[in-house]
Amino acid sequence: MSEFSSTKGVSPDSSIPHTTYDIRHTHSLIRTIALSKSYFNDGLETPVLFDINLTIEKGEFVSIMGPSGSGKSTLMHILGFLDSHTTGEFLFQGEPTGNLDEDALAKIRATRVSFVFQAFNLLPRTTVFDNVLLPLLYHPSIRTSQREERTRKAIETVGLTDRSTYLSSQLSGGQKQRVAIARALVTDPDIIFADEPTGNLDSHSGIAVMEALQALHRSGHTIILVTHELSTARHAQRIIQLKDGRIESDSREFDRVIAGTDDERLP
Ligand SMILES: Nc1ncnc2c1ncn2[C@@H]1O[C@H](COP(=O)(O)OP(=O)(O)OP(=O)(O)O)[C@@H](O)[C@H]1O
Ligand SMILES: [Mg+2]
Repeated sequence: MSEFSSTKGVSPDSSIPHTTYDIRHTHSLIRTIALSKSYFNDGLETPVLFDINLTIEKGEFVSIMGPSGSGKSTLMHILGFLDSHTTGEFLFQGEPTGNLDEDALAKIRATRVSFVFQAFNLLPRTTVFDNVLLPLLYHPSIRTSQREERTRKAIETVGLTDRSTYLSSQLSGGQKQRVAIARALVTDPDIIFADEPTGNLDSHSGIAVMEALQALHRSGHTIILVTHELSTARHAQRIIQLKDGRIESDSREFDRVIAGTDDERLP
């Protein structure tokens, strides 16, 4: 059982009102309450996120949109345990994250979340297979004997089995990003975060990447996609708009795009 599925915090006598009961026991995958973030440099405070109240359930595909500088990446880094918030609460599977120590954070980073970035971040002189295998070397519980099989399956999921032995520098941009997606899913994390994953790609490759993300979503993964383009954001089920560090809207009412279908036919 993970540290997040404990019953810590439940009042032993359910007749005793517990003020945090509702908040702590809905067990949403992600919940933030009045979360804010400031950066501090040389005593100078730069406030970036304000009063973020957000709930994301397991299995959702959410886009976070907004203009450059609105705080999208900052929010993603906080929700993905790469950065800390300043005030308010961030609950992960119902547990407050504020008092997790470095060991607990390192374990979460290795096992529960993974990332796909605009710039791919692959090791260039390393094969596709070894790039995808890499996160398993840091995983505390996936056995050595399972590593190769998991790697093979992740590469197959993104349709790159025939490129397994290529160096990542020998791939196209779209193929590199699909390798990054395979690397993100090989540990079977709770959440896959993607920050502008199609930002460096031509339209055709971008569609292939969105197809891969939608396929992962259909197979049950939770995906949080950061983008400033509505045409990309519309591949999700839900679009959260940030403006100047605040949530401006949060909607499921839009025409969803299924990657590679007629809706998305290229000129
Ligand atoms: N380390 C830092 N120190 C101070 N300010 C920072 C730091 N990192 C980001 N910021 C500021 O936080 C704000 C939000 O940045 P963030 O990278 O989250 O924006 P974004 O919405 O992802 O933008 P883009 O679409 O350009 O990637 C910006 O005004 C930025 O200058
Ligand atoms: Mg950004």
